[in-house]
Amino acid sequence: MSDQIRNKSKRRLWGRAKGRPLSTYQTSLVDRLLPLVALPSTLKDVGVLLRSTQTISLEIGFGGAEHLLHKAGSDRDGLYIGVEPFLNGIAKALAGIDKAGLENVRLHHGDVRDVLDRLPDACLDNVYILFPDPWPKPRHFKRRLIQEELIEQVYRVLKPGGKFYFASDITSYVDWALIRILRYRDVRANGFDWPASDARDWMQPYQDWPGTRYEAKALREGRKPHYFTFIKPGE
Ligand SMILES: C[S@@+](CC[C@H](N)C(=O)[O-])C[C@H]1O[C@@H](n2cnc3c(N)ncnc32)[C@H](O)[C@@H]1O
Repeated sequence: MSDQIRNKSKRRLWGRAKGRPLSTYQTSLVDRLLPLVALPSTLKDVGVLLRSTQTISLEIGFGGAEHLLHKAGSDRDGLYIGVEPFLNGIAKALAGIDKAGLENVRLHHGDVRDVLDRLPDACLDNVYILFPDPWPKPRHFKRRLIQEELIEQVYRVLKPGGKFYFASDITSYVDWALIRILRYRDVRANGFDWPASDARDWMQPYQDWPGTRYEAKALREGRKPHYFTFIKPGE
């Protein structure tokens, strides 16, 4: 996790951009299939795409794409947008799309903040952030994905009644995220609702949960995953 990428908008993206070299098959998918399933690059074209579908979900940092592919495969009427800067993750998603013949996935290879900038208000039903990079050292906290600005953007792009799913096995990240998400609720009278009544709510995986690679790693290493659901209040 040491490479630093600077994208067009000069935002800093922390984390790995590339891992093992891609196989010939994966390279051909990136060349041939990625342009066909890429999220449109203009606000107008994104608007047109989003208008044509009923349920729209965004997964931020999908890693090996286990969750993204499972959801898209079991709900072919919904649209699933996956964002991931790690090229090997993109290649895994493409292989899954190819194998299952999925037509309801759009991918963005890069930083989610660039995608959020081009999404219209109140267009998404679900946003998932599952096991984000922990950045456990205090001097690296500013690299964490969940920051006030991102929470604000997630709130903006969710439809009324839309859900924000956040899962993590890192206690300091859970505290970090909860403080910020709930503070946002205090700042905005109609910020996120958090309907949990006790720990049973966040200690159990979500319904229809396929598991993810980082969740499996946490369980192997004896850490307890937490699964939170926040809701943007309805009108
Ligand atoms: C710890 S991994 C978790 C992957 C997967 N969600 C899982 O549970 O197995 C975090 C992922 O977030 C991605 N990520 C980091 N910064 C990001 C950003 N600004 N936009 C989108 N994805 C990002 C990383 O590349 C990495 O794949």
